[in-house]
Amino acid sequence: MFKIQVYNNISQTGLDLLPNDRYDVGASQSSPDAALLRSQKLHDADIPANLLAVARAGAGVNNIPLDRMNQAGVCVFNTPGANANAVKELVVAGLLLSCRHLYEGIHFAKTISDDINTKVEAEKKRFKGQELPGKTLAVIGLGAIGVKVANVALALGMRVIGFDPALTVARAWELSSDIEHAETVDKALSQADFVTLHIPANNKTRDFMNAERLQQMPKGSVLLNFARAQVVDEDAVCAALETSQLSHYVTDFPSERLQAMNNVIALPHLGASTFEAEENCAVMAVKQLRKFLEFGLIENSVNLPTIHLDRSPDATDRITIVNRNEPNMVGQITHCLAEEKVNIADMINRSREDLAYTLIDINQVISEQTLAKIQDIDGVIKVRQFPLPAF
Ligand SMILES: NC(=O)c1ccc[n+]([C@@H]2O[C@H](COP(=O)([O-])OP(=O)(O)OC[C@H]3O[C@@H](n4cnc5c(N)ncnc54)[C@H](O)[C@@H]3O)[C@@H](O)[C@H]2O)c1
Repeated sequence: MFKIQVYNNISQTGLDLLPNDRYDVGASQSSPDAALLRSQKLHDADIPANLLAVARAGAGVNNIPLDRMNQAGVCVFNTPGANANAVKELVVAGLLLSCRHLYEGIHFAKTISDDINTKVEAEKKRFKGQELPGKTLAVIGLGAIGVKVANVALALGMRVIGFDPALTVARAWELSSDIEHAETVDKALSQADFVTLHIPANNKTRDFMNAERLQQMPKGSVLLNFARAQVVDEDAVCAALETSQLSHYVTDFPSERLQAMNNVIALPHLGASTFEAEENCAVMAVKQLRKFLEFGLIENSVNLPTIHLDRSPDATDRITIVNRNEPNMVGQITHCLAEEKVNIADMINRSREDLAYTLIDINQVISEQTLAKIQDIDGVIKVRQFPLPAF
């Protein structure tokens, strides 16, 4: 029975994937084997000695102390891409909000005091907009969200130019072949009626859209930022709005400065706020957690390597080991098994930065002494042995 500590409001559809006969799920567990959370901050929390994994139903993991999790050999998961469709749909809304003057139009329609029909007909020309087909969209960052945005914009009839210097093969397969590839960000920006940002916020992308890059965009173009506030230099954006270099700035990240500006359409961080996205995140987090707890497999961890090992027909048990990524760890581990004359049916070892992870399939239960010997090897952080389910 695995004890799962649940923080925050995790979608019931996800929790329902944890069967009662194998999982004890609750909000106040003592010594949990795993934690499931959304925004709960764990920086000041103790890490129980038996904690194996933390799964975040969401993308960012800055509420989780990764250094301490690494030291304790705890696998931390997130759910990249589970909210990508939600963000994509909001970006489409952002495109339409800006080019059809919907925000201004709705405000006008709401505030007409009398003789509505006459006033509507007299004033509607003020809100005349533009259609999307034939307009050019530059998508900066072709990850889970950017690829979806690029494909849907193409389906709406737009010309789409993508820029991502580290596009993965998997994402490239998802991307429509009609999307043009820009070799430099400037080439993408200089041709765009709309620019949409889908890059992570980090030290390299802080103020990614600065005054110089805003000047690369054609006059009167639209910038959409559904990534993070920090990837845009807000002062430069305000200056570009004042000179009409930008016609609109559409963002999911409001600020006092932006509130004072015309032609800013700011939403209250609604990108991933859909029932479906929350459910997708919870389902993905729980599935990843179960694969790890029941089979030792890792998918979408932020601190341990991705690893998969099909069980071989003659294997009955599996040993999993988290260790520091140092020379001769596998040699020392297998030596302990050889001393007990344990036959290794299959084995895989992968490393990621300072950590490594090993799965060893065997056809017997190894003794507590041998497990303790492996645990005592300098550099080994966490060892587990469990039976593999019968075929
Ligand atoms: N508004 C919201 O509520 C909301 C919701 C989810 C995600 N987000 C944000 O959206 C962003 C993208 O999310 P994702 O799930 O697509 O991430 P992802 O990791 O799948 O994709 C990010 C992509 O950006 C690329 N990239 C990194 N630096 C780049 C650069 N300098 N120029 C061009 N490309 C660059 C990477 O190669 C990667 O392909 C993240 O910042 C995330 O925080 C916002």
